[in-house]
Amino acid sequence: MSVLLPGGAGYIGSHTAVELLNSGKEIIIIDNFVNSKPEVLENIKKITGKDFKFYKIDFSDEKELEKVFKENKIDSVINFAGYKAVGESVKEPLKYYRNNVSGAIVLFEVMKKYNVKKIVFSSSATIYGDPGTPEYIEEMGRGKTTNPYGTTKCMIEQILEDIYVSDNSWDIGILRYFNPVGAHESGLIGEEPKGIPNNLMPFIMKVANKELDHLNVFGNDYKGTKDGTGARDYLHVVDLAKGHIKALEKLDKEKSGVFTYNLGTGTAYTVLEMIETFKKVNNIDVPYEIVERRPGDLPIFFANPNKAEKELGWKAEKTLEDMCRDSWNYIKNKS
Ligand code: UFG
Repeated sequence: MSVLLPGGAGYIGSHTAVELLNSGKEIIIIDNFVNSKPEVLENIKKITGKDFKFYKIDFSDEKELEKVFKENKIDSVINFAGYKAVGESVKEPLKYYRNNVSGAIVLFEVMKKYNVKKIVFSSSATIYGDPGTPEYIEEMGRGKTTNPYGTTKCMIEQILEDIYVSDNSWDIGILRYFNPVGAHESGLIGEEPKGIPNNLMPFIMKVANKELDHLNVFGNDYKGTKDGTGARDYLHVVDLAKGHIKALEKLDKEKSGVFTYNLGTGTAYTVLEMIETFKKVNNIDVPYEIVERRPGDLPIFFANPNKAEKELGWKAEKTLEDMCRDSWNYIKNKS
């Protein structure tokens, strides 16, 4: 029996693939390489010393997807496939709704047809909207999102909940990620966004690597953060990947249900703390300039991670130093 990973060659998918293989699971990856590269697959094999099946298909291609379900014994799915650039989603909402939401519907339909009813879905802290408090807890539920990317995550959560209402033999895990950073300690897999990055850590990487001459820090006059710059709950991608293993174990144990968890550390670090830690750990300069706030950014938010710890036995273990060291190690290793 295999775990199917749509988007398994991507940043979080590839790290989860490694943890699944290390825990003795069989996996099948499907990916169209829209935001990933074929080398990733070889590197997953190098790290784990294990092999797996791969299909180069789009997860929203019903015919191709059906073939995968016909040819294999699939027990569960962890869905990583989806576009994730907030800014792009504002400019091209239809592309996001078509790929993320329509793609997920195709996936769920095919799962239903082949009687595969166990799924872990990659959601995001963005679904909380702006709840007016920095600490996000699962019971708050979904708020008003500020961009189509976030709305696709809300919609898919809702679709999964509705599926469960219609058929309570499904086992559904919804994981709300905070801010994943870092890379596998081997330096073989990591985050490599195509084009100009949107997120802080990939931007720091480009500046450290001298591809960009400085980092723009978006605002230093936020209230409620240590130094006025934005603060986020950064978590190491390997910790995050392990959260998926715990979530699958939980679904294996439970008869059925919808289980929703925050995956974060519970601590927020500011942009300047990130820069300083990165500089100290890697002994490399990161020039920056303070510029205007980025529209739509919140000052600070972080996870209340207690539910995941209590019910999944999952807790982020790696430090900010590990995140900064491993992110840079991946980039150094590649160049
Ligand atoms: N920042 C900078 N300069 C940059 C990039 C970011 O100062 O060049 C700051 C932002 O203003 C923010 C912090 O760094 O204070 C983190 O920004 P990111 O873009 O890395 O992350 P966000 O928290 O804005 O976005 C992330 C995910 C989204 C998700 C969102 C809410 O990228 O997918 O969290 O959960 F929707």
